[in-house]
Amino acid sequence: MNSFVIKGNIVSAPTLGQLEVTPRGYLAVEEGRIAGIFPQLPERYAPLPLEDYGDCLILQSLCDMHMHAPQYPMMAVGTDLPLLAWLNRYAFPVEARFADPDFARAIYRRLAHDFLENGTTRVCLFSSLHTEATLILMEELEAAGLVGYVGKVNMDRNGAPNLQESTEGSMRDTLAWLDACGRFSHIKPMLTPRFTPSCTDELMAFLGRLARERKLPIQSHLSENLQEIEWVRQLHPECQQYWESYAKFGLWTDRTLMAHCVHSDRREREAMARSGVTMVHCANSNNTLCSGVAPVRIMLQEGVSVALGSDVAGGTQLSMFDVVAATVRASKTRRIQDSWETDFLTEAEAWYLGTSAGARFFGCAPGFAVGDPLHALVLDDSQLLSPHPLDVEERFQRAVYHRQRDAIRAVWSEGRKVLG
Ligand code: GUN
Ligand code: FE
Repeated sequence: MNSFVIKGNIVSAPTLGQLEVTPRGYLAVEEGRIAGIFPQLPERYAPLPLEDYGDCLILQSLCDMHMHAPQYPMMAVGTDLPLLAWLNRYAFPVEARFADPDFARAIYRRLAHDFLENGTTRVCLFSSLHTEATLILMEELEAAGLVGYVGKVNMDRNGAPNLQESTEGSMRDTLAWLDACGRFSHIKPMLTPRFTPSCTDELMAFLGRLARERKLPIQSHLSENLQEIEWVRQLHPECQQYWESYAKFGLWTDRTLMAHCVHSDRREREAMARSGVTMVHCANSNNTLCSGVAPVRIMLQEGVSVALGSDVAGGTQLSMFDVVAATVRASKTRRIQDSWETDFLTEAEAWYLGTSAGARFFGCAPGFAVGDPLHALVLDDSQLLSPHPLDVEERFQRAVYHRQRDAIRAVWSEGRKVLG
C-alpha cells in the first residue's frame, strides 16, 4: 500500500515561531498517514521502501488559502492601479474569458501543475462565475492530486456587461454547480460571494441559507481597500462595519475565510476572533495594489486565526515561498509604521502561517502530526553559495528567500507522491 519512509533534514512548524528540526531523520508514512519522525529508523519500519534524499530539506508543503484561478494568465501584468480600478480594467476582462471551456481547461491544467511545482498542495480558490469552467478547475486540481476548496463566484451587481449574473441565474447556477460536485473526492465546494459590492441582499441571503443548510464553508473579501470600505458603507448604511454586511446574512462563521482585512480595526478584529473567522493575509497583493499593510502581529495577539494567500493576480507570485517572504517583509514595514511598537514576524512564524495555519482549516494538526495525511516537499539547496557551513535552521531560513532552479525535487499531497 502507500507506506514508505523518506530520509533527509526534516523541518516543521508545530507551533507559531518554533521549528522542529530532525537532521538526517526518518519520516515514516503508513497508508498515506504520518506514522512518526525518528532520528534512527525503528525496526518495525525497516521493511518499508526508503527514499533517501541525502542532505536535502524535507519541509511541510504549503497552503494557498486565497487565490483567483482565472486571474492566473494575467499574473504580474497590470500592477499600476488600486483595487476597484484594477478589477474593472484588468481582472474582470480576463475572468470573462472563462466562458470558453477550452480556454479554461488549458489554463487550469497548467495552474494545477504549477501549484505542485511550487510546493503548494492545499488551496482555497475563487473560480469565475462560470459553472462549467469551475467544474473544469475542480477536475484539473483533482487529477493533479491537490486538496482543496473551490468556489463558483457569485456576482449579480457592479460587474461588467460580460461578467455579471442575474440574481435568479446566480442562485440557479450555484445549485446546479453544487449538484455536480459530488464526484470529487479531494476538491470540495465553497460558497464564494465575490465581495459585498458584487452581491445583492437577496443573493447574500440565499447564500447564507445555503451555507447553514448544507454546512458549507464560505470565502470572500473584507476591508482590503479604503475606497472599497467607503463603498460598502454607502451600500449598507444599516451596518456599522463592513463585516456586518456578511454577518447579517449568516456568512460570518467558523468556516469562513476573509481575505485581506488590511484595515480591520479592533472591533472588526474582535468579531473575527469571537466567531472563529479565519483572516487570510495576502502580503504580496496588498503591496502590489497599494492596499496597505495588515496588522498581522496584533491580530495574532488578539486571537484571530491567520493563514496566508497568494491572491494571484493581485499578488504577482504563485509560489507560497515568496508569499511567506512577503509576509515577513510586510511585518517589518508594519513595525516601522507602528513606531517599532509591534514585533515583525520571523521566517519561522510566517512559515507556520503558510503551512500549519492553513492545514488547520483542512482539519489537520500543525507540523508533521502523527495520523495526518502527508503533505510534504523535498528541497535541494546544494548548489547555493554560503559564507560558512550553515545549520539546518539557517538553510530553512535561506530557502524562504532564495532557492536554486528546480529546488523542489519531490512533493506529496494527501499521502500520495504527486511530483518527482
Ligand atoms: N475584491 C473583490 N474581487 C477581488 C479580486 O478579484 N481581487 C482582490 N484582490 N480583491 C477583490
Ligand atoms: Fe482576492
